[in-house]
Amino acid sequence: MIPPHIVDDIMQTSRIEEVIGEFVQLKRAGSNLKGLSPFTDEKTASFVVSPAKQIFKCFSTGKGGTVVSFLMEKEHYSYPEALKWLADKYGIQLPEERPATAEELAAISERESLHIINEFAQEHFKNNLHNTDEGKKIALSYFVERGYRPDIIEKFQLGYSINKSDDFTKAGLAKGYKLEFMEKVGLSKTKNNSQFDFFRGRVMFPIHSISGRVLGFGGRTLFTDKKIAKYFNSPESVIYNKSEILYGLHFSKGDIIKYDNCFLCEGYTDVISMFQAGIQNVVSSSGTSLTKEQIRLVKRYTKNITILYDGDNAGIKASFRGIDLILQEGMNVKVVLFPEGEDPDSYSKAVSTTELEEYIAKSTQDFISFKAGILLEEGENDPIKRANLIKEIVHSVSLIPDQITRNVYMQSISERFDISEQILSNELIKLRTDATKQNRFNRPVQPTQPVESQYQEFPSDEDLIPPEYRDNTPIVDNQDEPTEFDLMRILVMYGPNVVTIDQVDEKGEKVKIETSVTELICHELAVDELVFNNPIYNKLHQIISEALAENAFLKTSHFKRLEDQEVVQFVTEIEMNQHEISHNWITKHNIFTNTEKDKMNQAVMGSIYAFKSAKVEKRIREIQKVLISKEEEITDEELMDLLAEQVSLEQVKVLISQKLGRIIIH
Ligand code: CTP
Ligand code: MN
Repeated sequence: MIPPHIVDDIMQTSRIEEVIGEFVQLKRAGSNLKGLSPFTDEKTASFVVSPAKQIFKCFSTGKGGTVVSFLMEKEHYSYPEALKWLADKYGIQLPEERPATAEELAAISERESLHIINEFAQEHFKNNLHNTDEGKKIALSYFVERGYRPDIIEKFQLGYSINKSDDFTKAGLAKGYKLEFMEKVGLSKTKNNSQFDFFRGRVMFPIHSISGRVLGFGGRTLFTDKKIAKYFNSPESVIYNKSEILYGLHFSKGDIIKYDNCFLCEGYTDVISMFQAGIQNVVSSSGTSLTKEQIRLVKRYTKNITILYDGDNAGIKASFRGIDLILQEGMNVKVVLFPEGEDPDSYSKAVSTTELEEYIAKSTQDFISFKAGILLEEGENDPIKRANLIKEIVHSVSLIPDQITRNVYMQSISERFDISEQILSNELIKLRTDATKQNRFNRPVQPTQPVESQYQEFPSDEDLIPPEYRDNTPIVDNQDEPTEFDLMRILVMYGPNVVTIDQVDEKGEKVKIETSVTELICHELAVDELVFNNPIYNKLHQIISEALAENAFLKTSHFKRLEDQEVVQFVTEIEMNQHEISHNWITKHNIFTNTEKDKMNQAVMGSIYAFKSAKVEKRIREIQKVLISKEEEITDEELMDLLAEQVSLEQVKVLISQKLGRIIIH
């Protein structure tokens, strides 16, 4: 980790206009610089850099942020990689080169040693393959028989482990490597005081990090004995964490960016054969079931994943889980099913490259058709199966974080299955509220009911909703978003500023006290147990509250330095618009009468009350929705509680709007 004071140093030294100037031709435009966006093919410049604020904004793609965000977007660097790049450019020394403690030094040198041993092993296995009799006779001929070209064998650094107890371990020891480290990467084992190799008589597939270092191996046996596991994989170690690695990504990342899509398949051989056929934007999860860390690796390069699966049942089951995980990460997922009995490896060899490309193009399905196809196979016309299928698909859609994308899919499901969007929306609301447990009146997810009653329950929902609610109920109620935005904007921009508020002291007398905007807002939210709905605001609120607990007040420059680029983008966005807002404020409203400070007090109090008022309204709408849609399931006691809450909320609403009115009028 780069220590915070060095991050500060890097951020203060870097000039965004210089860095971006290396990638984009920038021309002066007032106090800003302008150029053609490096993220799209545009003809008119919509890419703006502000040297004063040290931020950029691309108006074509909506991307924006700091110099670090730019490098992460443009070069697909991770946060530390971007900082390192800048440190290098501006000659800032990073402490990692001289670790502070002996322990850190030991940890770094251990990692380094493990890498070196793996790289030695990779060379050793490669040498076995090409330069030993056993390797040539058994392993190289095996690869040749499988149709692997020499350049592909070379590219993927394939090798062979001699079928002898300690061939590799001996070579490593002779080279002076510590047995302890060879055991740590899982290449050597010790039993009864003697050493032997973990991989024996196997063709070896080195597994690379994104930057090309060897992290571990997969080894495929060449024996046909069913009792021997087909593949052995390196055990987990400090450098090999299989849930965070995708096989092939080191080689495929360029094409993944280029084609803005990543093919995902199951095994080592699928990746290699696809490469050989010329399709090089491909990775595999290699035997582990896909993890969200692996999906996030892909997300650095593209938002699109196409899953390539062989048509067996296990493959399909696994793909369902994979689809949901990918959707949950906010990515787009498509699926290609290969003909019965074929996988990407076998099929790419059975046909020409053109045929393979054509097959993929014509067989690519969106996840809805794919799921529908599989689930309907058994009974297209069975209404119960159909209902369950639709629910299953809506469930997948409910995982998508972005509301607009969810809506698009809902429309498509509605058309395809000829079901009203409103019914689907209701199901979606149910799933999403169940999942987020935001609604405390929602019962636990229904226990599995007989299939029949599920089917009945589904279409009849519509009748329970009065017409006035059918067309204008938003799928997810986010009508409080503008007030959330406004309050967060004030918190971020003016947090450390001082405001004066009226308070009643112990004697019941009105006194004026001074406090910070941050304290005031955090206090007001805490007393009513209110939180932000929007996850980004929520994160910021947490960061700010935590700092406040330690009496620290965070400025905008602090937020722009955080690793979380969603937060950086948000803060940049409001900074970018700040100028415009205050400008409009003065020109349009011609407000010069109040002092700046008064304006601040009003703005803060106004935003707090507007926020609270929106929350109250939202809660009232929620209650109404529960009352309407769950009318029949509700017990009398719950009904009374809900009605009582509704009445008291209505009262609060009146109180708030009076206060809000006063603030706005005076
Ligand atoms: N796998 C594994 N351990 C096993 C079997 C499979 O780790 N015992 C992983 C490997 O990464 C393998 C992938 O799952 O590449 C897919 O398995 P499979 O289709 O059986 O292997 P292939 O790579 O297709 O091997 P081959 O074509 O040589 O049989
Ligand atoms: Mn195979």
